[in-house]
This record gives sequence, C-alpha cells and structure tokens, in this order.
Amino acid sequence: MGRASTPHQEPAVLPALSKSHTATVIHAVTPRTWRETAASLGPAATAFAQATGFDGSPGSHCLAPAPDGAIAAVLFGLDPLGGDPLALGKLPPLLPAGTYRLAGFPGDHDLAALAFLLGGYRFERYRRKPSAQALELVVPEGVDILRLQRIAEGVALGRDLINTPANDLGPAELEDETRRIAGLFGAKIRSYVGDKLLLQNFPMVHAVGRASSRPPRLIDLTWGDPGHPKVTLVGKGVVFDTGGLNIKPESGMLLMKKDMGGAATALAAGWMIMAAGLKLRLRILIPAVENAISGSAFRPGDVLASRKGLSVEIGNTDAEGRLILADALALADEEAPELLFDFATLTGAARVALGPDLPPLFTDDDALASECETIGRHVADPVWRLPLWRPYEAMLDSKIADLNHIGSSPFAGAVTAALFLRRFVEKAHAYAHVDIFGWTPTPKPGRPQGGEPQAARLVYTLLEARYG
Ligand code: BES
Ligand code: MN
Ligand code: ZN
Repeated sequence: MGRASTPHQEPAVLPALSKSHTATVIHAVTPRTWRETAASLGPAATAFAQATGFDGSPGSHCLAPAPDGAIAAVLFGLDPLGGDPLALGKLPPLLPAGTYRLAGFPGDHDLAALAFLLGGYRFERYRRKPSAQALELVVPEGVDILRLQRIAEGVALGRDLINTPANDLGPAELEDETRRIAGLFGAKIRSYVGDKLLLQNFPMVHAVGRASSRPPRLIDLTWGDPGHPKVTLVGKGVVFDTGGLNIKPESGMLLMKKDMGGAATALAAGWMIMAAGLKLRLRILIPAVENAISGSAFRPGDVLASRKGLSVEIGNTDAEGRLILADALALADEEAPELLFDFATLTGAARVALGPDLPPLFTDDDALASECETIGRHVADPVWRLPLWRPYEAMLDSKIADLNHIGSSPFAGAVTAALFLRRFVEKAHAYAHVDIFGWTPTPKPGRPQGGEPQAARLVYTLLEARYG
C-alpha cells in the first residue's frame, strides 16, 4: 500500500550540455576589468552597464545589449581574490533561455561549469507547467564532459530524492529508486522487508519502522569487481521522522521529509562512482523506515536487541537514526571493508555547532580526516572534523542494558551520537561518519533552496583520486 500517487515524471531538471558553436558568452569580470570587456562589445553595452549601475562587483551580472537590442553577452562579476568556487551558480536562474559559453574564468573551468549546472537545477515534479527556461551550456575546452555530467546528475538525483515528499517517497519507493539505479549500472540488489528483518537479524531497523503502515526494510546494493577494494556507503533512510512517541513539535517536524538525506547522499555518490566505473567494489546499505506513531511503536525505556549483540536502552524515540544505522553498520562491518562511510541527518546538535552548510565529520583516522577536509574545501563540498571524544563514552552508560543510545546530558549531542555509532564498527579499516543537514535553507550560488546531498561530491572526488 501507499505507493506513489503521482506518476513519476522526468526527474532532474538541469541545464543541458551542448557542443554548439553559437552561444551567448558569459564573461567573468571584476570591478577593474569590466569596462574593457563592455567596451569590446560596443558603446551600447558600456552605456547600458553604466546606466544600470553595473560595477563588476562579485555576484553581480549584466545582460549587455547589442545595438539591435539583442543580448550581446553576459557580464558576471567574480571575486578577484577567489571567493566562492560555485559563485557562477547564482546566474542560471537569472538568465533567459538559451545556449551559453564561459569566457575568462580563472583556473580550470570544471567548477565554474559545475556551478552553472547545479545552479540551474529545478525541482518540477509537482508543477503542471514546468518552467520554460531551457538552458544549455557549451562544455568549456579541457573539461571532461562525462565527468561533469555524472557529478551534476548525481547531485540532482540526491536533491530530487530529498525534495520528494514522504507521501510519494516511502520505504518502498526508496527501494524502487535504488533498484532503478542498480539496473542502470548492473548492480546487484536485495532487500529485507518487514518481519524478514527479524529473521535476518536487523532488530533495530524493525523496531524503529514497525509502527508505520509502510513496512521498514534494509536495502543492500553491491556493484563492481568483488576482487577490488571494498568501499561501503551507509545512508540514513528515514522517509519521515515524526519523532515517534517522543513526538516532535510542529516546527521540528515540518522539514522531516529530508530525514532520508543520508540515503540520498549515498545514492548520489554511488551514481557518480558507478558512472565513472571506479575500480572498487561498492556497497550501499540503506535502512529505510518511517518513524511513525501507532500502537506498535517502540517506546522510551524499551530495551532493544541489536545485530551486533549489544542491548540498547531507548532514551528517546526521536533518536531513531542511530538505531537503524547501527544495524546497517554492523552488517557493513562484517566483511571488514577498506573504507566505510555513513551519512545521516542525525542530530540537531550538529547544526547548533556548525550551522546548516558545514557538516561535521567524525573519524579516528587522522589521515582520512585531513584528506576529507582538504578535498571538501577544494570542491566546495566542505566538512569539518569534530572529535570522537572518548571520555564522553560514559554518557552512553545504561543502568540496565549494554548501552543507552542517547547521552545522559544535553551536551555534545553530535559527539555522543557519533560515539554510539562507532560502537558498531570494529573491523572496517577506516570509518567516517558525516552528520549532514541535507538541506539548503536559504539559497546560495549553485545551491538552490531545498535538498542537498552534502558530502557526495567530496566522497566521490576522494574515491576518484584513489581508485580512478
Ligand atoms: N532527524 C533528526 C535530527 C535532525 C533534526 C537533523 C533537524 C536535522 C534537522 C533526528 O532523528 C533527531 O530527532 N535527533 C534528536 C536526537 C535527540 C532526541 C537525542 C535531536 O537531535 O534532537
Ligand atoms: Mn528523530
Ligand atoms: Zn531523524
């Protein structure tokens, strides 16, 4: 029951890539260079730019006219000191339909082209009349078109999944979508649904998801040569988080369709990895549940068994993500992967610490941490390391079970959540947890308001460097 009520339409709306030669040029300019560029377009362009107050400041733009009133070119102000690498992502929503080409952007054009594509993303599944603004970008010289395409498509896929509301994206639809992706790349997929979770020993995935009329499941995708290094991505797939019996207040519940943002990130990164054919054995594990309220809901004070064998006392049913992740991480850990990542919209505390745009990264591996921070900054998909602070382990002590799943104090909520997860990973050669927000609350260049699979591009770039 509860299958999609809206027919699944063309997903991602992104600007198309074009090989055309006729295109409107977008010139990168600065406050010092813009006059020269405008002059090269003719007196009308200069006069118009001046009259409209264009000054080449970062993020400003001017549709410079030709003498006949057509658009001669677009001027776009760039920060001469560098600034946001995705700055150009501000422009696409402001452009009329057409084919565009970049000129004068510093460095390699990879990030500028990507910014253009990501900034032109639109979510139009529920619009009767999709916007007519069709944009094309001529692929800049020296840019790997297929690479650009797979990264933009991966991000768009992740955004679409997060933006789709929970009435159209339940655990079953999340599985359907994962199957569709598996089919495109020849990946193998299996899933354990409803009571099968108990038979296969995923008790916490079952406990969290059982109150919903839409049965919980553990989705397990594998791809690639089994002889290659094993890389596993685990994503929190809570299709909607009411908080369970510890129900959220209305303000806290409003955005909770995005609580499968970790799953969306794992799938977005997986899309890029599989499309690139990286030399690794990929596994994506998604515990997909709805944290709902009914007579069969799990309760505060319950003690749950877990796949790993540890008993877990429930302090608050709104801390559901770490429970389903723990069973999925325990499964991932059984084959001792080379690299294990999990992505999860796990705690409000992570946002209190670092805000919505900078997800905390937790790992015991110093080299992996600095590699992630460096690459993330480079590709404008940043993370910031926070500590797995051992002394706070004591906050997870339980009076009656092996451990409690939430901290005994209101402090360091993102750290105690990460410490809880770490208890379920022993054999993986390297493990990192990323506590993402999964959402852009106020639009920024290249990041329209709405879902964002944070850290997907970062993880793809890291794996590409290692296994490309
Ligand atoms: N999905 C939420 C965390 C969340 C909330 C992420 C808002 C991003 C934005 C998670 O399941 C949750 O409710 N966590 C609780 C844990 C607490 C009860 C220990 C939280 O952070 O308040
Ligand atoms: Mn919750
Ligand atoms: Zn949640």
